[in-house]
Amino acid sequence: RKCVLAYSGGLDTSVILGWLQDEGYEVHCVYVDVGQPCEDREAIMQKAHDNGAASARLVDVQEELCRDFAFPVLQWQAKYEGIYLLGTSIARPLISKACLEVAREVGAEAFVHGATGKGNDQCRFQLAAEALEPDVKMIAPWRMQSFRDKFPGRTEMIDFCDVKKIPVKASLAKPYSSDENCLHISYEAGKLEDTAVNGVAIVDFGMGVSPQEAPDKVEEVTVGFESGVPVSINGVKKSPLAMVQEMNEIAGRNGVGRIDIVENRFVGMKSRGVYEAPGMTALYAAHLQLEQLTLDRDLVHLRDRLAPEVAEMVYYGFWYCPKMDALLAFIKEAQQPVTGEVTLGLYKGNIEIHGRTSPNSLYDEEVASMEGGGSYDQTDAEGFIRLQGLPSRVLGKVRPRSY
Ligand code: ARG
Ligand code: SIN
Repeated sequence: RKCVLAYSGGLDTSVILGWLQDEGYEVHCVYVDVGQPCEDREAIMQKAHDNGAASARLVDVQEELCRDFAFPVLQWQAKYEGIYLLGTSIARPLISKACLEVAREVGAEAFVHGATGKGNDQCRFQLAAEALEPDVKMIAPWRMQSFRDKFPGRTEMIDFCDVKKIPVKASLAKPYSSDENCLHISYEAGKLEDTAVNGVAIVDFGMGVSPQEAPDKVEEVTVGFESGVPVSINGVKKSPLAMVQEMNEIAGRNGVGRIDIVENRFVGMKSRGVYEAPGMTALYAAHLQLEQLTLDRDLVHLRDRLAPEVAEMVYYGFWYCPKMDALLAFIKEAQQPVTGEVTLGLYKGNIEIHGRTSPNSLYDEEVASMEGGGSYDQTDAEGFIRLQGLPSRVLGKVRPRSY
């Protein structure tokens, strides 16, 4: 029996790797590189081999993550429950895809992951995997009573690793759990579970400084877009990943992009999370400005009504489905004119707008100007408003409003 394991080299997936072998599996480890922090990827592969993996490989999907997953979601301006930029959510379907590609190659029937039975990640891994491979056997050890009985806590996991000679870093349990990729870092659980506790005071942020620590001086950055896709910084063309990485640097050093949210998980519970996404936060802001210049009013209003729907689907894990295919086709078409440049002024966590230009700008100074003239005739407004008011006038006669 063969399986693929979404392997990180951390304590949980190391234990799972050993346990799967005890259960009789031939285990193929896949380290899907989405930009998680890692000193030595070679060492992680070696560790998997040393610990009995039949094969271990690293699949770098960072460019694909930015280009085909994060950027379409950015074009949608999708934010879960108004503020979460979906940095973990959007990476999950791609991790499933990368693992299934290996499963197909090695002839594995099962896909194993280390997500718990209480979270969102299990939903995303599984919904994506089943959409791509309807007969896949999902194994989520944390959902199995027998596994939880064997490993009720960290101590038992570390003991198991000692017996199996699996090296574990002698690190203290963190005061919270985090998930990092090139798009963001999330922090939740542990001390953050108390919603009254100040998360910003507890979290040791990894991508940027606090607004207080940021320079006392505005930093300008100009972001270029082509059809809604971020393509350049200060006039220099960049790949999708480089766009995200460099914007993380620039916005991160100016204290941009931290949030604290109590969010509704797909499995029903409320959960408190702290996030930092400096680069994506700045890119969302710049993109929105360029849309204001280039998009037709009714189209952008329709997009705005559908964006929460897209955010919800990404958050829940419905990425590979006909509805999402159609929504992605819609946004691709809608974004065609969103080309141009936006200059942001970053200052202590704030994002100022310093200017925007586009060859496709719909903004017409002649029409907008208060100076009169142009093709806007104020007398047209009279009939326009008169007809808009017709229903109110009829109602007002039949059912007078008291005031
Ligand atoms: N609550 C966020 C989300 O659902 C972050 C999840 C973090 N996952 C993790 N394994 N630490 O997208
Ligand atoms: C987990 O439970 O595996 C992490 C949190 C989440 O998926 O929401």
